[in-house]
Amino acid sequence: MNNKTAVTSRRDFIRNTAAAIAAPLIVPSSVFGRNAPSNRINLGIIGCGNQSTVDLPEWFKNDDCQVVAVCDVNRAGRGYKDEKQFLGREPQRDFVNQFYAKKTGRDSYTGCDACADFREVLARQDVDAVAIITPDHWHAVMTNMAAEAGKDIYCQKPLSLTVRDGQEMIKAVRKHRRVLQTGSQWRSNAMTRHACELVRNGRLGKLQRIESFVAPNNFTSPGPGWQPMPVPDGFDYDFWLGPAPKAPYHHDRCFYRFRFVMDYSGGQTTNFGHHSNGIVQWATGDVVPVEYEDAGSEWPAKGDLFTTPTKVAFRARYANGVELYCHTDKRGSGARFEGSDGWLEFASRKIESHPASLKDSVIGANEQRLYVSENHYRNFLDCVKSRKDGVEPVEIGHRTSMLCHLGNIAMQLKRTIKFDSKLEQIVGDDEAARMLSRPLRGPWKY
Ligand SMILES: NC(=O)c1ccc[n+]([C@@H]2O[C@H](COP(=O)([O-])OP(=O)(O)OC[C@H]3O[C@@H](n4cnc5c(N)ncnc54)[C@H](O)[C@@H]3O)[C@@H](O)[C@H]2O)c1
Repeated sequence: MNNKTAVTSRRDFIRNTAAAIAAPLIVPSSVFGRNAPSNRINLGIIGCGNQSTVDLPEWFKNDDCQVVAVCDVNRAGRGYKDEKQFLGREPQRDFVNQFYAKKTGRDSYTGCDACADFREVLARQDVDAVAIITPDHWHAVMTNMAAEAGKDIYCQKPLSLTVRDGQEMIKAVRKHRRVLQTGSQWRSNAMTRHACELVRNGRLGKLQRIESFVAPNNFTSPGPGWQPMPVPDGFDYDFWLGPAPKAPYHHDRCFYRFRFVMDYSGGQTTNFGHHSNGIVQWATGDVVPVEYEDAGSEWPAKGDLFTTPTKVAFRARYANGVELYCHTDKRGSGARFEGSDGWLEFASRKIESHPASLKDSVIGANEQRLYVSENHYRNFLDCVKSRKDGVEPVEIGHRTSMLCHLGNIAMQLKRTIKFDSKLEQIVGDDEAARMLSRPLRGPWKY
């Protein structure tokens, strides 16, 4: 989209105008009061499925954020993660309007619109930021178009579908000076931060080995004998496919289960892996490993609708020799760090260590401290105002996604791949190198 009219966002306009008439302007707080319209962030939601039920209530907690539009290619329907969920643009629009009606003590409220085409949200001058909660194959195209339209972006994890996606997202976000927060909320958790600070400050002695866990698949595939199904009423399937290849419709391809189809996601490697490996990356300095190999991964049969690993198992090696073993594990998500002086595990929302006292070690004022964010959504809103990077900006989200994608490539090819982490290129393996990017189906482009 070349929406020049939308390039300057409402917030940029206010900021630029204030700057133009700045000195010696003193703006009284009654003008830019805490919740004055100029101080409020108007948010558009793109993708009204399973995760929107988690994200919307988080946005609602912030008085200075107003959800003004929701968008989904699905009008309304069931069949998401949980059969009880009735989701899509109309139910989520009603959910938002009911929330604001209750909040403002009115009988009804109609301030939140619903649309099927996200370009309508991007074209709105009153929208400051968008939350992208669509399947992964849309993240890069939508992020780039949102950045060009002057919107800040909260993009769900995994940030990208391919390594190239992430590189293009960095270019767009930085070119248009947008704020992007990757929606992998574990970086806004005091316990995770403490675990990572313990590792970074050498409490384990010399770090030797890391394990990261991803949950087993939580849906069974319809198998290789699957048959196409009629597209449900009110669902724009071609728009759902977007930049992904054309394919016959099946329910298990789309709602929630898209994460088990390689054309739209990377399976649990990128789904839970983005959380677990994101912690690993935070603890080790956010530089990706340089070597990846399969460690006994298992995959669906040929012709199956699901095409992501049924068992994740890969090893990676950091430049300093530390080994990372990422694998399917009932613990769900988390990581274990082993060093010369002990171990530390972060899983099931608690930290365990050996010796037991290690986990309670206090980090001194002069030691390495990590970015403090107590709430991922609040951190994003604060950064929209300050124009600073949040706890998980585009480069960080990209590197964690990249690690997961490289693990998938090694597992798919069942051979060791070497990676130049500075150039972000696979070395000496043309077939593997081609897997860093995929063609986008037109008219969609970066
Ligand atoms: N941070 C977390 O802990 C967490 C948890 C779950 C999911 N997620 C992420 O959230 C994203 C969505 O996952 P989900 O479980 O909600 O999937 P879902 O299938 O339940 O919902 C996705 C919605 O996006 C809609 N959509 C698809 N293409 C669209 C388009 N072009 N325009 C507008 N809407 C479109 C779909 O119709 C669907 O309603 C994924 O990237 C996933 O990894 C993050």
